[in-house]
Formats: sequence, C-alpha cells, structure tokens
Amino acid sequence: MGVNARFNILDLVDEALLGRLPAPGGPQDGPARSRTPAGRGGLIQSPQPIPPAVPMTRLFIPGPTDVSPETLAAQTRPMVGHRSQTITDLFARLQPGLQQVFNTHQRVLISASSGSGLQEAAVRNCVAERLLVCIGGAFAERWFDIACANGLPADRLDVDWGQPHTPDLLEKALRGRTYDTLAIVHNESSTGVENPLSELAARARRVNPDLVILVDAVSSAGGVRLEMDEWDLDVVLTSSQKCFALPPGLAFAAVSDRAMARARAIPHRGWYFDFVLLDHALSQNTTPATPAISLLYALEVQLTHMLAEGLDRRYARHQAMAARVQDWAQARLGLLAREGYRSKTVTAINNTRNLDVNELNACLARHGMVIANGYGPLKNRTFRIGHLGETRLDDVERLLGHIDAFLDGQA
Ligand SMILES: Cc1ncc(COP(=O)(O)O)c(C=O)c1O
Repeated sequence: MGVNARFNILDLVDEALLGRLPAPGGPQDGPARSRTPAGRGGLIQSPQPIPPAVPMTRLFIPGPTDVSPETLAAQTRPMVGHRSQTITDLFARLQPGLQQVFNTHQRVLISASSGSGLQEAAVRNCVAERLLVCIGGAFAERWFDIACANGLPADRLDVDWGQPHTPDLLEKALRGRTYDTLAIVHNESSTGVENPLSELAARARRVNPDLVILVDAVSSAGGVRLEMDEWDLDVVLTSSQKCFALPPGLAFAAVSDRAMARARAIPHRGWYFDFVLLDHALSQNTTPATPAISLLYALEVQLTHMLAEGLDRRYARHQAMAARVQDWAQARLGLLAREGYRSKTVTAINNTRNLDVNELNACLARHGMVIANGYGPLKNRTFRIGHLGETRLDDVERLLGHIDAFLDGQA
C-alpha cells in the first residue's frame, strides 16, 4: 500500500471542525460540532454549559493518551507566582528526570506549547543555510512545511509512506548538496514506522560532522529508548500527551551545545521559542514567559511515576504491546510499516477487509474505547492503534477482543 502523497493539513482541520471526522481522537473528541454560532461582533452569545463528567474512555489513539488520576489531580494544586521559590525549586527538580528520559547531560527545555511549537523552534534556531528533511509521513511533512513557512530553504528526501529511511539513501542525499541541518521523525505516527535513528544519525555525522540533527521524538520519547548523547543528536523534542501520558500543553526539547552554538549565530530566530533565551532562563530554573504551572505539577508526579516503573521496564512494556498488536494485525488484516521498522507505540493496520472504521469505533465506544482512523491520505485505507503511555498489555487484550468480536460479526 505505497503512498507518497502531499496533502494539506488544513483539510484535516476543516474536517475536524465540521464534525465529519471522528479522528484524530475519535468519538471521544465530542459529538459532531457545528461552527461556533458567533453573534454580532463575533462574540459568543451565551456560555456553554459544562458537560457532565463521563466515564473514562481508554484511548488507543496515538495521543493524547490516558492520564492517571494522580497526575490529573496534581493540576488542581493552588496557583503560585511563577517567579516564586516554589516554581524555581520545581524546575530544578524536573531537569534530572527529563535528562534521564532523553539519556543526555544536555539541557532539556520545557515549553508551554505542543510539540509542533518546538519543531518550529528547532528549525528557526538551527537552520542557517539549508535543511534536508527525511519525509515518509505526515509529521515529517510538518518539518518541511515549517521550514517553508519560515522562508528557510529546505529539500525533501521522500520515501513511500510505510517505508523507513535508510542510511545509504540519506548519505546519497547529503552528498548531493550542502546542508547544515537535517530533520528526521523518529517514530512516524501517521504510518507506524520507526526510523533507524541511531544508524541514520551515525551515517549523517560521518558525511558532515557539523550537521545539526533535529529529531521529532513526539510519539517515542518516554516509551522507546532514545540515546541523545550516545547517538550525537542535537535537538530531540517531544510533546507531553504521548508516551509521557500527560495532558497536552507542554513540550520538551533536549538541545545540544552544538545546536546552542548554531542558534547564537542566527540573528532572527524569534522570541518565544528562542533557544538562547530559554536556555538562559533555564540556567536560573525559570522561563522567559509564564510557564504552564499546573502542567508542571503534573509533570513532576508523572516523571516520578515513570522513573519508579523503571525506564527499561517501560520500554519493554511498549515493546510487548506492539508485538501483541502487530502479531494480531498480521493474522487478521495486514500492516502498513515494513517489517523490521515497526513502531513500538503506534500500529498502522491495512484495512484489507474494507471495514467501516467509524462503525468499528462506534462499537468500541460502547466499551469505552477508541482507536484512530488512518491519517490524511491513509484515512479508511488504514486505521491505527496507539499502545503508548500508561496503557498496559491487559488493556490491549481487551481492545483486541472487542475488535475480534466486531470482525466476526458478533459485536
Ligand atoms: C510524530 C509526531 N510529530 C509531531 C506531532 C505534533 O505534535 P503536537 O500535536 O504536540 O504539536 C505529532 C502529533 O501527533 C506526532 O505524532
């Protein structure tokens, strides 16, 4: 099922706004919504009632993921001033845990944004002359789109969606033109491909020792081992709502000294996402602008939980869930990603039986569960099961049982 398609992200946004999409989250994202009825001057006329609490849905989508009650509760702590000792102490406590997740001695910047914000930051702070983007799915397209939107010269190295990038292919592209920056997606959530990151980085470094290597680890960091220092990566970024199993709204980027030196030499790198400014503030355990304090409280609770589980055990749990889902999918349908490069956090399943994914999700919703449709051009041709964050093998077994019943017409 080869796909190598350019598509417009606004198509997805429009579909979601018009309520035609159960994806990316699925039915739990709420009932079909009409566009906000704007009154004169665009003001909303009457406040919307707060919806009643609903039983928790198990999210088998590639993020947001389920958040534990303890982590959710941490957000209800009273507010304090962001320049208070409480918050500077909190920032100081967060660094060592974040550094463990990225396996780095470098700084880990914390941003009040989603991961895309730090993708934009990485591009603006690091691309001096020309960027090469490895593209094999929707989120790699995002790297490219961000570079174009910022007026930065970028080239694409495309592979069919579902295929990984290989070191040989990358080396050829890097030797074909001079690049100072390379962008890769570690785990492509739209296709379920895990790129061979350490091999790609090693080959790229051999071609150009000064290359700044940017890694989107949005759907892998915290669920899959990442060796920022050993693999000599420069910016490794992720979002809070994936393997970290936090609510959305925070993003983290481990940034190397090489990337910081590059940033210092770039004159117009913006303000909110200026690595130099963020790094200076972090050295004083603070941020230039007001941080998302409630989410930082949640982060501390969740990091403690992740380290108590043990990162190796956490990675093994993700691996075991992926193996189970992928064995099942191969027996019953088929897999999009090439063997040997399959994601440990999200599986893209070929819809070889032409299932109605909306109907499948309606059936799963009766059991409080949701999966994701295929992304963009892969919608309905594939569907995706996310197995990341705090999801356990038992949860996966229950999900597969319900999908089996649906497939066998017993649901
Ligand atoms: C691999 C990947 N990169 C980037 C993003 C964008 O992250 P965010 O939605 O946090 O901006 C996502 C979101 O699903 C993703 O899966």
